[in-house]
Amino acid sequence: MRELSVPHPSRVPSLPRLHEDAHKGHAGRVLILAGSASMPGAALLCARAASRGGAGLLTLASFDRRPLDSLPALVPEALLLDLRALAKGARETSALVAALRNALEGRRDDACAAGPGLGVNKRTRAAVELLLEHFDGPLLLDADALGVFAGSPQSLRREGAPVLITPHPGEAARLLGREVPADDEGRTRAARELATLTGAVVALKGARTVVTDGENAELNTTGNPALATGGSGDVLTGLAASYLARRSPAWSAYDCLRAAVWVHGRAGDLSAANRGELGTVASDLIGELPDAQRRIE
Ligand code: APR
Ligand code: MG
Repeated sequence: MRELSVPHPSRVPSLPRLHEDAHKGHAGRVLILAGSASMPGAALLCARAASRGGAGLLTLASFDRRPLDSLPALVPEALLLDLRALAKGARETSALVAALRNALEGRRDDACAAGPGLGVNKRTRAAVELLLEHFDGPLLLDADALGVFAGSPQSLRREGAPVLITPHPGEAARLLGREVPADDEGRTRAARELATLTGAVVALKGARTVVTDGENAELNTTGNPALATGGSGDVLTGLAASYLARRSPAWSAYDCLRAAVWVHGRAGDLSAANRGELGTVASDLIGELPDAQRRIE
């Protein structure tokens, strides 16, 4: 087993503790819009991570049945929001997005994450535009929810509750319309620029993920190449959504995101120590989350 060096999250504050009498509503309600017929796994990783991140109530919404069919076996704690069924089987974007809009009206979610596995298409674009307009809690956008805004990062700007974005360098480059430098200084500059253009809190992912709210910026200290495996980004998205849902006035969206990035990296470090960098798959990270997040509990 490899020796673990554990950088203390000195600047990452502890998660807000729940009151002794807390019920699941206090722990936070999380809505995830993710997955599609060809990419169900992204939604499931995201939902499993949100569940381990302490979400009190978790709902996975999908336009396709496939991610939902696998959900009860993999995340029995989660609720299903079957948008195709709500749209009475319709396949058109307008009917499916109207179903999402109706569903949002009857819900009270504390945070929402959208993007992993949705596909870069008109339906995804319309759904994210709807969330930007009608979801009035913290909204985390990742993966395909960013891919549909290539070259127009300013479309993500909104008043009110915070937007957070977690692009990898390719997604950041597509948003900005130019390559993102590989060095830390250039990556930090690109992340700050994205924060300025979008008004969002940004995690520009990679080794030493940059997290910035436009004013403050920080390079993450945890993580290793074990995380360079398909689906590990989806785990971060679900985890961050659960922290956002439990946010307290003492804990900003920026705090939530840097804590999630730190814990996610730490889960990668634990997994690498336990099963090696080669042998780690994204699902393994979820099993390491309880230990990884103890340091900020
Ligand atoms: N050191 C530390 N952390 C790392 C390293 C590393 N060497 N490599 C990757 N990571 C972390 C990143 O910081 C990020 O948190 O792993 C995560 C990878 O996230 P993504 O790049 O979003 O990867 P993911 O979405 O899981 O899979 C790739 O992205 O380009 C799309 O469609 C493509 O499905 C593919 C997906
Ligand atoms: Mg990703």
